[in-house]
Amino acid sequence: MTRRIALLPGDGVGPEVVAEARRAVEALGLAIEWTELPWGSAYWHEHGRMMPEDALDTLRAHDAVLLGAIGDPSVPDHVSLWQTILEIRQKLDLWANLRPARLLEGIPTPLAGRRPEEIDMLFVRENTEGEYSGIGGRAHRTLASEVAIETSVFTRGAVERVLRLAFDLAEERRGLVTSATKSNASRFGYVLWDDVAEEVAAEHPGVRYERVLVDALAARMVRSPDSLDVVVASNLFGDILTDLAAAIQGGMGMAASANVAPGSDAPGVFEPVHGSAPDIAGRGIANPAGAIWSASLMLEHLGEPEAAAALLNALATVCYKGPRTRDVGGEATTREVGEAVAVQVAALSARPR
Ligand code: NAI
Ligand code: MG
Repeated sequence: MTRRIALLPGDGVGPEVVAEARRAVEALGLAIEWTELPWGSAYWHEHGRMMPEDALDTLRAHDAVLLGAIGDPSVPDHVSLWQTILEIRQKLDLWANLRPARLLEGIPTPLAGRRPEEIDMLFVRENTEGEYSGIGGRAHRTLASEVAIETSVFTRGAVERVLRLAFDLAEERRGLVTSATKSNASRFGYVLWDDVAEEVAAEHPGVRYERVLVDALAARMVRSPDSLDVVVASNLFGDILTDLAAAIQGGMGMAASANVAPGSDAPGVFEPVHGSAPDIAGRGIANPAGAIWSASLMLEHLGEPEAAAALLNALATVCYKGPRTRDVGGEATTREVGEAVAVQVAALSARPR
């Protein structure tokens, strides 16, 4: 079966890291048909919008989307993000954002003395509503009385499905779900979340459940990351915690993510957690690890667990032996790392099973 994969390289370092993810996937020798979509900030300058009008139909015609990053200093971030990533997540109803935060051997962590086996968390972030619902408004612009209102939305259905997924995933891992809310200061949305979490926990007697205030959780991630397994959080909290998690696993260049809707036939969108990194774009030094890891998540969700594992193993081997980019203590270019991973993939695939 030939898989149809849409490549959305985007802006800045996006195209640089996506090229290496593609190279690594191609080394697996699967039957894949790639479609490259030139959307993003350059498209906006030419057409006045970030993606064409029928963009979502185009994406729906694919099995998965591999995205680099979107955002350029020449386009306001709220425009570029809302017209692409947030639009795609919401319209395709990709309600779960999965972000493994594992420290690979050979990658330096800023947490002193921590070993790779102590850092292996999986973040499950609600991806369609919460604090990023896009509901609100702004009035009396520039006056002293100016007001802005941003409304968080929590629905039982969306909260329940993401919690259920977190518990299901914990059953396949170390059996702990930590739910991050802030239901002491915020009295409605997060309290609904806590109530639903209790209900879902009761359906999963084999999983330990704990509720932690998000600020305390941030501190605990630094102090004792080894005490965490699956962390489930709202859109905003998941966003913030996973940047911290990325730092713990070696930096923005390492972190991968999957935007998925289990049970639906919408294509998942797989992307490194980092943005377009305009400060290093065009220099060929971006770390492609997050993008390559995201491609591994993509293969897993496409029902290719062996290929996914081979790709992640190849990446892990290169992280251990080098070459590495400078953000993780090496001197290699983006391409040198991508080529090394592709060589490892070929070596792993050639080995008799
Ligand atoms: P960023 O993630 O692009 O960069 C933050 C820091 O991490 C920078 O110092 C950068 O050099 C470093 N970094 C990022 N990716 C790296 C990689 N692969 N290898 C080595 N170092 C890397 O976040 P920032 O600067 O806040 O945002 C830049 C632009 O990206 C903005 O326009 C923002 O809106 C957009 N953005 C897009 C996202 C997406 O496409 N999903 C996510 C986050 C930001
Ligand atoms: Mg973020």
